[in-house]
Amino acid sequence: MMNTQRKGGKNMGVLILAAGQGTRMESALPKVLHPMGGKPMIFYTLRLANALKPAAIGVVVGHEAEKVKAAVSALAKETGITRPIQFIVQKAMLGSGNAVLESVPFLKKFKTAVVLCGDTPLLTYESIYGLALSHEEQKGQATLLTAKLANPKGYGRIVRSPMGEVLRIVEESVGSPKELALNEVNSGAYCFEVEPLLLGLKDISPKGPKKEQFLTDIMELVRSKGGKINAYLSPNPEEILGVNSRVQLAASERVINRRMLERFMLSGVTVCDPGSTHIDADVEIGQDTVIQPFTVMRGKTKIGRQCRVGPFCYLEDAQVGNECEVRSSQLVSCRVLEKCAIGPFANIRPDSVLGPRAKVGNFSEVKNSRVGFGSKVPHLSYIGDTEIIEDVNVGAGTITCNYDGKTKHKTTIGAKAFIGSNVNLVAPVKVGRGAKIGAGSTITEDVPDGNLAIARARQVNKA
Ligand code: UD1
Ligand code: MG
Repeated sequence: MMNTQRKGGKNMGVLILAAGQGTRMESALPKVLHPMGGKPMIFYTLRLANALKPAAIGVVVGHEAEKVKAAVSALAKETGITRPIQFIVQKAMLGSGNAVLESVPFLKKFKTAVVLCGDTPLLTYESIYGLALSHEEQKGQATLLTAKLANPKGYGRIVRSPMGEVLRIVEESVGSPKELALNEVNSGAYCFEVEPLLLGLKDISPKGPKKEQFLTDIMELVRSKGGKINAYLSPNPEEILGVNSRVQLAASERVINRRMLERFMLSGVTVCDPGSTHIDADVEIGQDTVIQPFTVMRGKTKIGRQCRVGPFCYLEDAQVGNECEVRSSQLVSCRVLEKCAIGPFANIRPDSVLGPRAKVGNFSEVKNSRVGFGSKVPHLSYIGDTEIIEDVNVGAGTITCNYDGKTKHKTTIGAKAFIGSNVNLVAPVKVGRGAKIGAGSTITEDVPDGNLAIARARQVNKA
């Protein structure tokens, strides 16, 4: 890992361009807010900017400015962004050059500025650090992060002199066939000396089909005033992938996901099939847990050590303790304590707490309930608004009738109670400690401790 202390400081600011609508996304949602790894895409750029330790981070907003501002502020708070964030409102979306022009009051405060696009979430700290270091060493007026791509379509192409100096960047929409055949592309990440940048900005003339001011035209302008442009070639071209369409969104998400999974694998988690496993950025998984194929973990899901999760599981904001087994089930906003067995085909809904050593199995649904220590709900049950104390066996097909059409009511089942199969517990109702309920009963009154309750019609055999 490189030394992070050398970069940043009071002379450096980072500017993130995030005002564009993202027309090619064909979406009502601003592009930089599209989710990736469970976070709005701009999170990754924000985190990167923060890691550079600049004096401040400027975020240019425009399209749906209030929405983007609110999302960025919330992210900053949630994810521990420590650098001050300043929003710059771009009044009309006249291109990336115009976005930087609108940011002059912010940029003026610094000697050096790193400019990043809000739609390149895969850039790593190593690359941007390398870019900043190369900028410092080569003493040019601007340094670009570039990459060589087999298919450069859509990106700005880097035009170099026969000697290899960077002359200019040509955008796809205005390039000649010869220029468009060049395969070194602009990542959209730059390091600028602010003074020459500010001198050139206002001279960028509108271009292309949308008459936009291309930030990339600044290179030629800086050069025309005697400045020098350098390029830092990314060692990993995959990183520069820009997200302009949903096809690129999916490609980027795949990389983010793979990075997450690799991090887990390197910390001792077995991921049987990375291709069918999707894990959000905030998920935590303990050592020696095995994740079987077709498993999705969203939000703030946390899995303990030595668990087996999957195949075919969906977990969202779920906490699972050590040594649990979860198979083909859905768990949302719930807590499963250690050594529980869930599934196959269980639906554990919000505000449920299971275990330790509880079992909820085949086609059972649990909602806002506690299934206490060692208790079992193995087959075909609905347990809602219920407190199951401990060591209870709930027979197949048991239903807590918690809803009378207006209000939800509570069921309590005491320790060591035994509920026969196909029982209806009409809430509010209490089943006492050690009580037994005969199969097929509909229980409408409390059952005292140790009693046997049978509430069903007696069998009549007729010849
Ligand atoms: C841009 C670069 C291109 C580079 C590519 C890398 C320009 C002109 N071109 O192209 O050379 O290869 O990124 O991904 O910059 N934005 C604003 N205000 C605007 C317009 C855009 O803030 O008026 C922001 C967008 O929100 C986005 C960024 O600037 O984050 C880049 O804009 P985008 O339209 O995605 O440019 P690309 O075509 O990807
Ligand atoms: Mg883009």
